[in-house]
Amino acid sequence: MVRRDLTPSEGPVSLTNENTQFDTTWEMVVGDDLNYPGFAFVVLFIYKNLDSLKDNTSHQSQQLMSSAATVSVSNSNTTNLPQLINLTFNHLQSSDVDPTCVYWSSENGPGVWSGRGCTSVMSNSTHTVCSCSHLSTFALLKGIHQKKGSGQLSLVMWGGVLWH
Ligand SMILES: *[C@@H]1O[C@H](CO)[C@@H](O)[C@H](O)[C@H]1NC(C)=O
Ligand SMILES: *[C@@H]1O[C@H](CO)[C@@H](O)[C@H](O)[C@H]1NC(C)=O
Ligand SMILES: *[C@@H]1O[C@H](CO)[C@@H](O)[C@H](O)[C@H]1NC(C)=O
Repeated sequence: MVRRDLTPSEGPVSLTNENTQFDTTWEMVVGDDLNYPGFAFVVLFIYKNLDSLKDNTSHQSQQLMSSAATVSVSNSNTTNLPQLINLTFNHLQSSDVDPTCVYWSSENGPGVWSGRGCTSVMSNSTHTVCSCSHLSTFALLKGIHQKKGSGQLSLVMWGGVLWH
């Protein structure tokens, strides 16, 4: 979605496709008013069939419970957002397992699913709402394990670079 206007838009903005909904505000999309170029955009990409790429040797207990979604906005300063963004994921299959909200982190090496900066604020058997403080590629994982002491999540590594 693109908005052209002399002054930056304000208020809520929502993008939806069949599996995922992205909720944020135009204030977050625009960022610093001083850099406003006269338009702003919000993007929601969905990856539907990532589960078929999964390496059979990786932890069988960890699986995607949703499509993966990449969200992007015209504001380029999005590593630590002043407002949380919300992603509502429909579960691929109805499940009572509590999913973990994760994002694809490729800062160190080929990439891992990480839960940092992302929490589940609502979950039932058919969908889960994730609130996150940055933009990235997000999904729901089930069967994720907390490593004792490290505060880090144990992660699926799919090898290869899927994004970026
Ligand atoms: C995201 O969800 C939180 C918690 O439910 C809510 O307080 C916030 O207003 C929501 N943000 C947007 C942009 O909808
Ligand atoms: C993983 O295993 C399934 C069935 O066991 C097989 O159909 C699929 O081709 C395998 N995928 C890879 C990447 O080896
Ligand atoms: C990026 O955003 C943060 C939080 O809103 C702000 O504190 C920081 O100054 C911004 N950085 C730049 C380079 O604009």
